[in-house]
Amino acid sequence: MYKILTLNNISPLGLSRLPDELYQVGTAIPEPDAILVRSANMHELAIPKSLKAVGRAGAGVNNIPVAKMSQLGIPVFNAPGANANAVKELVVAGLIMACRHIAPAWEFARALNGTDEEIHKAVEAGKKKFAGFELPGRTLGVIGLGAIGRIVANAGVALGMKVVGFDPGLTVEGAWQLSASVQKARSIDDLLKNVDFVTFHVPLNDKTRYMINAERLKLMRDGVVILNFAREGIVDDAAVSAAIKSGKVYAYVCDFPNNVLKNHERVVTLPHLGASTREAEENCAVMVADQVRDFLENGNIRNS
Ligand code: MLT
Repeated sequence: MYKILTLNNISPLGLSRLPDELYQVGTAIPEPDAILVRSANMHELAIPKSLKAVGRAGAGVNNIPVAKMSQLGIPVFNAPGANANAVKELVVAGLIMACRHIAPAWEFARALNGTDEEIHKAVEAGKKKFAGFELPGRTLGVIGLGAIGRIVANAGVALGMKVVGFDPGLTVEGAWQLSASVQKARSIDDLLKNVDFVTFHVPLNDKTRYMINAERLKLMRDGVVILNFAREGIVDDAAVSAAIKSGKVYAYVCDFPNNVLKNHERVVTLPHLGASTREAEENCAVMVADQVRDFLENGNIRNS
């Protein structure tokens, strides 16, 4: 019997890949052979001596002490691409939220009350206050052209936007999955100088931490919109806060709670919803459960 400890809710469809006759799965399993985790922070966790593999039901692995696992010879499997469509759809929503002011306009509409005439007047005021702008013809910069960045770039093209992408590690194989209309920037700075919107699809590491900081903000077009559906820490919140106040940044959409910026009307914060769809949760769980199973039973390493 293999023992699997789950540190988060893992989709039942994924767990169904681990048959009862071979696997004991639960949230309080001592001496596990493998751990399945979504967002739980494993950095502080004592690593069980019995552990042979970790499956991260998502793309990023920054909640896992990967270097330590590697020293111990424990593979870490993840699910690249399995939640890409879910993230892409939320990025598209974020683009539209930013330029049509959906969050503050919704709050405004919910607070309306009074006579028909008063409401009519308020609606007219709201139409003026929340007038927006459209996406076609504007330029979207996509930093990071992995599974998520690529379909975000293609979605930008489908929305009629000019799209510029940058990824220092872009492979030939990755390149062909991009629409021919996606331009390749020479560098991050080159991209930042030429875009109206910028969205990040990179992991958080020493190279990407504070990728958007006060210096880089100076390079950017006035009125740029920044979207961060990747990880907290890629954007320096204090610098963006100052840039929003000065008007340099038009709007900031981020998929994390944000104490520095949450009260600004042009800031949208979400509770890390990018991968939170039924389909993405199932895809991720199935992908990592299959990889963990293949490793435990056959010693195969399909991705880590
Ligand atoms: C990811 O890295 O794919 C996401 O953070 C997944 C999640 O929300 O758990």
